[in-house]
Amino acid sequence: MRIVLGVSAGIAAYKAVHLARLLKEDGHHLEVIPTPASLEFVGRATWEAISGRPVTTGVFEGVDEVRHVSLGQQADLIVVAPATADLLARVRAGMTDDLLTSTVLASEAEKLLVPAMHTEMWQNPATVENVATLRQRGIQVLEPAVGRLTGKDSGPGRMPEPEQIKSRIDQLLGDHDAAATWHARSPRSGAQYHPGPGTVAGDPDSVPHGPLTGRKVVVTAGGTREPLDPVRYLGNRSSGKQGVALAQAAAEAGAEVVLITGIIDTQIPDMPVDMRREGLETASQLQEAVTRECQDADVLIMAAAVADFRPASYARTKIKKTEDGESPVIALERNPDILAGTVRRRSGTGTGPAVIVGFAAETGDDSTDPLKLAEQKLARKGCDLLVLNRVGENLVFGQDTTEIWILASEQSQQKLADEDPVHIKGSKVDAAGAVVDHAAQLLSADSQR
Ligand code: CTP
Repeated sequence: MRIVLGVSAGIAAYKAVHLARLLKEDGHHLEVIPTPASLEFVGRATWEAISGRPVTTGVFEGVDEVRHVSLGQQADLIVVAPATADLLARVRAGMTDDLLTSTVLASEAEKLLVPAMHTEMWQNPATVENVATLRQRGIQVLEPAVGRLTGKDSGPGRMPEPEQIKSRIDQLLGDHDAAATWHARSPRSGAQYHPGPGTVAGDPDSVPHGPLTGRKVVVTAGGTREPLDPVRYLGNRSSGKQGVALAQAAAEAGAEVVLITGIIDTQIPDMPVDMRREGLETASQLQEAVTRECQDADVLIMAAAVADFRPASYARTKIKKTEDGESPVIALERNPDILAGTVRRRSGTGTGPAVIVGFAAETGDDSTDPLKLAEQKLARKGCDLLVLNRVGENLVFGQDTTEIWILASEQSQQKLADEDPVHIKGSKVDAAGAVVDHAAQLLSADSQR
């Protein structure tokens, strides 16, 4: 494959040298385009030696080849690592003041940007907005790692390790290859397909047809893990069984399914069709994957138990007991609300899944009715359907059975045949079937308008 590796001016440029080596070892054709300022960190000679190709940084070098157009046109993938805050801003603005930004703008290839910067820069509203816009345009922006930064400080902003970046590249190139094969053999005209590592193989000749044929459904499942130090994390008791059952039900209804899992404790059965699976850990990673996959999805089902909070800081070394016998106090900060964010983006941009399904795990108590809580949550989150689960000790978590109520928003109620809310007590497979059926009814009501 032909890969363009862009390098912008961050100290993490030294790690990109190892990434370039890994890509060459895999036999890829590599063109490195550093920004002029990045040559302060890693010089031209290093890039030429590793890539085996001439390296230029400006649009006025090699003008006869029109390099900013030809490099981009020939590329299967453009990766920028590290991508500084400045580079993200320039790409977002469509600027073309060096060979790298010109190539990015002139190319239709898939693009992966790997941010690296200080936490304050990463969390600055300008960068947050730039990243959100780039993702909306279909550019992949990796979530930076949490850890030691250039100085003594640590936090989110560190460039992920070259091996991690490489495995994401492998996944994207796998998608690229497999998409071509699928389009050639798919009985579902117009259906998109993105298998990658973790694909559950199926028999393409027995692709089921159903109410979701030709539709893309994104399902999240399992719990998230928020790291506290290199050995500890905050997690929850979700097994992922309900989410996996939902993915299976959607696949059986004919959908192209992307199953995004946090930490799960269940087997993923063979599916009737190929299904892409992406395994992640933190809420922020889940948010990135959901945002990316929802750009062209018809349905989002948020069954994952997403941590509402994460440790406010990550300790680079294991937190130790102290002599004075004091216990540490762990400060927490809010995680993004992925479900509410997807709903907000849909109302703001008019794009995104036509049907968004949220889950509510409620214990209720003597004075509060779980159904009342769920109705409030449905209104608060603004989704189209909300699935209420009664949870508690030995109830639901890790079990094969469940008890759910499916609540519909006011707008959705008018499109559904059933009285609201629908109550199901039985296996998680039965519950999944009912949820998918409701989502399909809403979709078909929308397309008949
Ligand atoms: N969810 C999400 N992002 C979060 C937290 C939750 O997308 N940071 C999603 C879950 O996947 C689920 C729904 O929101 O579909 C409800 O999650 P829940 O944690 O029960 O609701 P909260 O709004 O956090 O309410 P509370 O914790 O107060 O019950």
